[in-house]
Amino acid sequence: MTKNIAVIRGDGIGPEIVNETLKVLDKVAELYGHTFNYTDVDMGGCAIDKYGDPLPEAELKKCVESDSVLLGAVGGDKWNDVPGNMRPEKGLLRLRAGMGVYSNNRPAKIWPQLADASPLKKAIVEKGIDFIIVRELIGGIYFGEHKTEGNTATDVLKYNESEIERIGRIGFETARKRSKKLCSVEKSNVLDSSRLWKRVMHRLADEYPDVELSDMLVDNCAMQIVKNPAQFDVIVTENMFGDILSDEASMITGSIGMIPSSSLGATSCGLYEPIHGSAPDIAGKDIANPIGTILSAAMMLRFSFDMEKEADAIEKAVSDYLDKGYRTADIMSEGMTLVGCKQCGELIIENLKGA
Ligand code: IPM
Ligand code: MG
Repeated sequence: MTKNIAVIRGDGIGPEIVNETLKVLDKVAELYGHTFNYTDVDMGGCAIDKYGDPLPEAELKKCVESDSVLLGAVGGDKWNDVPGNMRPEKGLLRLRAGMGVYSNNRPAKIWPQLADASPLKKAIVEKGIDFIIVRELIGGIYFGEHKTEGNTATDVLKYNESEIERIGRIGFETARKRSKKLCSVEKSNVLDSSRLWKRVMHRLADEYPDVELSDMLVDNCAMQIVKNPAQFDVIVTENMFGDILSDEASMITGSIGMIPSSSLGATSCGLYEPIHGSAPDIAGKDIANPIGTILSAAMMLRFSFDMEKEADAIEKAVSDYLDKGYRTADIMSEGMTLVGCKQCGELIIENLKGA
């Protein structure tokens, strides 16, 4: 198969981790007889420097016209003082909205080889951590009106039924493919938008009788994720709650650097990115962990290109790499072999097996 991939290297460690990921994709192409064409897209701080705009229309167009988008990371202190609508993050938000990718899938899964890296007690980790947060990505407070007037600032949190319904369905469908347990997370004891959320989720539940729906308030959920993460399988929630809970969920797996994500909308053209940031403090030092991005590429193959075997091969290669005791600095522990970003990419490629 031939696929055209838009590649956003972005800022900070973005270019390094994307480079290693493209090498992995090239090796997959070679082993499985595919052609991946890459189109570079400027987004984030580097685009502000180059065009005075974190995502010029022409760059967004390249993404929308691609078969999928691979993104490293954007942002950094250098652009902290630019106005809100010109921040690097605004490029990312415009990209998500422009691509219409309303459904963000963030797995929180512990790698058995890294169980010791979790900050949770062993007894809790041993019960298992393997759940997915399905986060609504292009609505809610992120996309409501933002304004500052004198000493008052306002951000509007708004959802309509159809926005809730389409992400709700993804939640149910995702649960259906797993353990058939869906937890809808909101703040319906305070927010109108959450009461609507809950109502829509329960209406949908009638259409998915095989899935068991439960409700949880977001503050309680934040607590339950550290108290008893094994209770969760699929969580579905709105944009900002999903942002916050997914950072928490990644932390309990011990290694935010390992976690990929996928964002999809109505078509197969998806956006794939690690959930960590651009880590400007370690940029250019060849010490970043490229695995979150490499696993995001695996998700791209699986969800957008229907390349199941190829995705499995990447995940297996990562697992073999960990089994052999290699670790980048972020997940280094006693007795393991410390490697840099490039070496990590090369070792994973060595472990990649063809059909
Ligand atoms: C994320 C990030 C983004 C978000 C930022 C960079 C805008 O935190 O992908 O979780 O809040 O969605
Ligand atoms: Mg976040």
